[in-house]
Amino acid sequence: MNVLGIETSCDETGVAIFNTDAGLVAEALHSQVDLHALYGGVVPEIASRDHIRCLLPLIEQVLAAAGVDRPDAIAYTAGPGLVGALMVGSGMANGLGLAWNCPIIAVHHMEGHLLAPMLEDDAPEYPFLALLVSGGHTMLIAVRELGDYTVLGTTLDDAVGEAFDKTAKLLGLGYPGGPALALLAEDGDDSAYVLPRPMLNQEGFDFSFSGLKTAVMLEVKKVRDAGMLDACRADIAASFQRAAVDTLVGRTLRAAKAENLQRIVVAGGVGANVLLRRDMTARFDGEVFYPRLEFCTDNGAMIAVAGALRLADASAATEIRAQARWSLNTLSAPGTTLALA
Ligand code: KG4
Ligand code: ZN
Repeated sequence: MNVLGIETSCDETGVAIFNTDAGLVAEALHSQVDLHALYGGVVPEIASRDHIRCLLPLIEQVLAAAGVDRPDAIAYTAGPGLVGALMVGSGMANGLGLAWNCPIIAVHHMEGHLLAPMLEDDAPEYPFLALLVSGGHTMLIAVRELGDYTVLGTTLDDAVGEAFDKTAKLLGLGYPGGPALALLAEDGDDSAYVLPRPMLNQEGFDFSFSGLKTAVMLEVKKVRDAGMLDACRADIAASFQRAAVDTLVGRTLRAAKAENLQRIVVAGGVGANVLLRRDMTARFDGEVFYPRLEFCTDNGAMIAVAGALRLADASAATEIRAQARWSLNTLSAPGTTLALA
């Protein structure tokens, strides 16, 4: 079966075809980063309009690349995300589902992220611990089976990707700042500044990044006032990245131990961070799985594979789902009711 995956939850228009025998057969992505960079962040109305402009041509492109006239099922991101952006993908999926008379599957965006390693040859077996780190989320999830998710911890304030982006902005780097900050950090000394590792030794598995962000802000102000910002930027970037990665790895290892899980999946945009990948693999006794770099950030392939794994939830195209908030805890195994609450 060929499953068409559609991702439009934020600022990437992602489309892919996943074949249940052959795996990923075609994939295309249009990033809106340049449009939003002018504003220093994602502008929801601009995001929706650009999805409308790009989605159908991208779908035609992947169908042609896969040599498929029409898919056997359509999976789309139904949430969480920007409602206007989600409605573009949802409306398109339902419209095409009616036109092609094929069933559709509403996919949870974060389930897409945590299943992205299933696109690889060395896909993880269940159970595993997932660290989902993106611009909007920082979560630790015990994944017992497909659809059996327990959120163990989440951020109490900023998401870690947001902390990367805000620190990058303070250092005069563009948006989104995560990749640029990681690049700058390569030239810096990560012990130059003593920054907090928030909640590293506290009970539970929640995260907090606002204290780290404030500490960086104070350091930047100090060096800027001294006219030294240019000379210190790389050291600040490296020290920030080191503190953020220490926090993520430390909390994740604690959770894996407490939940007795021998496999870890790191996914989401910040999962592309090389230091995070290197440290997690080096410090964990068990196996660590990552999506390939381009499937860490938002993409259609992760939605297509999640849809393929959830074919039992496929239904006639009759309901346009688009939900800004949607807890992973409410999901259930394929074939049981998919709660959108
Ligand atoms: O998953 P994603 O594409 O979108 C959301 O659902 O948020 O994640 C985007 C986030 C941004 O905050 C970006 O700065 C961050 O992922 N990011 C990185 C890296 N690549 C992307 N952060 C740190 N290091 C990277 N290499
Ligand atoms: Zn995402």
